[in-house]
Amino acid sequence: MNFGDLGTVEPVSRDFGYDRGTPVDRVYIEAFLRRHSADIAGRVLEVGDDSYTRRFGAGQVQHCDILHVREGNPSATIVGDLSSTQLLPEAAFDCMIITQVLHLIYDMAAAVNEIHRGLKPGGVALVTVPAISQIARDEWGENWFWAVAPAGARRLFADVFGQERVHVEAFGNVFAATAFLQGVSAEEVDHRKLEAHDANYPVTVAVRAQKAT
Ligand SMILES: C[S@@+](CC[C@H](N)C(=O)[O-])C[C@H]1O[C@@H](n2cnc3c(N)ncnc32)[C@H](O)[C@@H]1O
Repeated sequence: MNFGDLGTVEPVSRDFGYDRGTPVDRVYIEAFLRRHSADIAGRVLEVGDDSYTRRFGAGQVQHCDILHVREGNPSATIVGDLSSTQLLPEAAFDCMIITQVLHLIYDMAAAVNEIHRGLKPGGVALVTVPAISQIARDEWGENWFWAVAPAGARRLFADVFGQERVHVEAFGNVFAATAFLQGVSAEEVDHRKLEAHDANYPVTVAVRAQKAT
């Protein structure tokens, strides 16, 4: 892909590249979930829809609840703000898939507490957050509060789950970050160039956190 004139103030796409193909960050999010697909089993909670649960937990999932922050999503089985206490049933879930959600919640620490409370002992949260990213101007834009660095993600989860039960990974490099900021899609770039990970340029930060048994 030729990025064209990087001297212009207009990006290639203001829609993360959805209008051109798959956004670069989805490559990282999906590879992370694929690698941890053994965790996606039993009773699962996913946010917005159950597409990742179906895709990566096929044959392992007994029940999937779908969380949405407000009324109007017909597939939602739980409606409310994840940072409000006691939104979720206590110790109910074997796995939670919380992709690209926490940065939309002002009180992220309260949300992490609620995730922990809702997991069964031994249950696993698979979480991703944006680091280097454009900011959506869609329905979520008004509540896009944060970008999360790896150290921030580690601290947020370690404070609640305990250091030894939290594993944080960062994905991206300067090429991937430039493509993603411009909204160039994954199909338009050499995939091998997305695989090099440079700690100076995290595009996506992923957390696997396991509740103590
Ligand atoms: C950009 S989508 C991300 C989820 C989607 N599964 C994904 O991987 O892209 C935004 C989702 O965040 C959820 N969300 C936003 N603010 C929230 C809050 N305070 N509590 C719970 N969920 C929230 C919305 O319900 C919505 O489904």
